[in-house]
Amino acid sequence: MPQDPSPPLTPAVLSALRTGTHTLHVALEQRLPFFSATLDRAHYTRLLSAYFGFYQPLEDALLHSAFIPEGFDLQARLKTQALVQDLQALGDDPGALPRCHTLPALHSEACVLGVLYVLEGATLGGNILRKQIAQHLGLDTHSGGSFLYVYGEDTGRRWKTFMAFLGSVQLDEHAQREAVHAACSTFSCFEQWLECQEVLI
Ligand code: HEM
Repeated sequence: MPQDPSPPLTPAVLSALRTGTHTLHVALEQRLPFFSATLDRAHYTRLLSAYFGFYQPLEDALLHSAFIPEGFDLQARLKTQALVQDLQALGDDPGALPRCHTLPALHSEACVLGVLYVLEGATLGGNILRKQIAQHLGLDTHSGGSFLYVYGEDTGRRWKTFMAFLGSVQLDEHAQREAVHAACSTFSCFEQWLECQEVLI
């Protein structure tokens, strides 16, 4: 018998995260106004401002967390700066915007991985959203659309790297449940924040 079998193609934790968050993803996707016929530049700017109000404190909490798994390059995956760039291009001042204080807990490595799963997975719809905003509002990566396509053509490769990283971290069943709980909490906190900011459909 081989002693060192290849890792499964889909790590158990990834399957659990997908299954556990699927309904929340569908629900949020349907409420986001990217494809609304009434989405104009002002509403899009308010939407990105609300994104900023969530991503900025959450990424800040991640930067201060003691539970970032070893070997994970957080700096290379931060997205707040892209939001700042877009908001400035759209004529908004990010410094003056409200921030969300109800954020997912980051009290273990598993929690951090669950949160990162959501933030990294959120880049996957980017190409679709980027095209929609370009066609509908005439915005490109220099004029307010950089966050939606934050990894550009590297999106698929970076997602694969993230999945491989996720699969390489040893998580027992309890830790896997914690990761799924944190991912679900990230979706819920985000949706509630966007709701409070009155940017959802
Ligand atoms: C209208 C907005 C959105 C669209 C159109 C969209 C679309 C997509 C698409 C096309 C995928 C890839 C599915 C696949 O390749 O199997 C995906 C995956 C994902 N999205 Fe979204 N998405 C949206 C918003 C969001 C938001 C706001 C979040 C979280 C904040 C999010 C989190 C995720 C996650 C975690 C995955 C990874 C699923 C997996 O494990 O493969 N998405 N999305």
